[in-house]
Amino acid sequence: MGRLADKVAIVTGGGSGIGKATAKKLTAEGASVVVTDLNANAGHATVEEIGNSAFFLSHDVTEESEWERIMKEAVDRFGRVDVLVNNAGILGTGAPQNPEDLSLDEVHAIAKVNVDGVLLGCKHAIKAMKGQGGAIVNLSSIAGIYAVPALVPYGASKGAVRQLTKSVAAYCGKQGYGIRCNSVHPGIIETAMGETVFNFVFDDPEQGREERRQAIPVGRLGKPEDIANAVCYLASDEASFVNGAELVVDGGQLIL
Ligand SMILES: NC(=O)c1ccc[n+]([C@@H]2O[C@H](COP(=O)([O-])OP(=O)(O)OC[C@H]3O[C@@H](n4cnc5c(N)ncnc54)[C@H](O)[C@@H]3O)[C@@H](O)[C@H]2O)c1
Repeated sequence: MGRLADKVAIVTGGGSGIGKATAKKLTAEGASVVVTDLNANAGHATVEEIGNSAFFLSHDVTEESEWERIMKEAVDRFGRVDVLVNNAGILGTGAPQNPEDLSLDEVHAIAKVNVDGVLLGCKHAIKAMKGQGGAIVNLSSIAGIYAVPALVPYGASKGAVRQLTKSVAAYCGKQGYGIRCNSVHPGIIETAMGETVFNFVFDDPEQGREERRQAIPVGRLGKPEDIANAVCYLASDEASFVNGAELVVDGGQLIL
């Protein structure tokens, strides 16, 4: 019996990286998964790899009407929604993010996906889950906890996710909804976004990668599956007393 047997989960940004690994992990543990993504080709590819227990819906997390459609289609297809993984996120558009050169356009572009998208997800997940209970897992970052001088608006957006997660958890508790809400804080993970971080933050990306690897106590960068395992735990009933928590999954980078 899988750890998520009979549960129905939605994973946003499931076409790539951490979202893809999470969709695969949750289905391997018995869940039915709705994979959503802005990139339809990538989302369909994830579902093809998984098979019958997943299906894909095209989705822009920044559009509220699309959240209404996603929730309705998930319930029509599987009967309920038990888990939402708010994973879709962007590092930015490539424009400068240091505090001297950043533009408000960049700040807003990042916040629209990373903050508005997560808030809308929480809002519509609560609507779908409040008669029955459920679990929301929000992807923040270690950049939401410690300073990254070259990524000020990205870090701020992830700090917002850390905080809003706790407020959502407290609200749902106060209302007696039985909905838990937790955040996961990955270190640098080897995905498309992780590669962009090296190119963006370091003058010499290869040297930066090696320096970063050496600075991580477990001696390696993270894999998408490392994060998928953490999300799976928080989504499962094993975490039934874990609520409003921030789970750092970074190989120990933050302790130094
Ligand atoms: N990779 C890392 O090093 C790292 C570290 C810390 C936190 N994170 C966070 O983990 C999450 C996943 O990161 P990843 O590395 O897998 O990224 P990724 O770029 O590989 O994948 C992100 C996915 O989200 C989708 N997406 C982007 N905007 C969207 C939107 N508006 N609506 C729907 N889907 C959208 C993309 O199409 C893509 O498939 C993000 O929230 C990211 O900020 C990543």
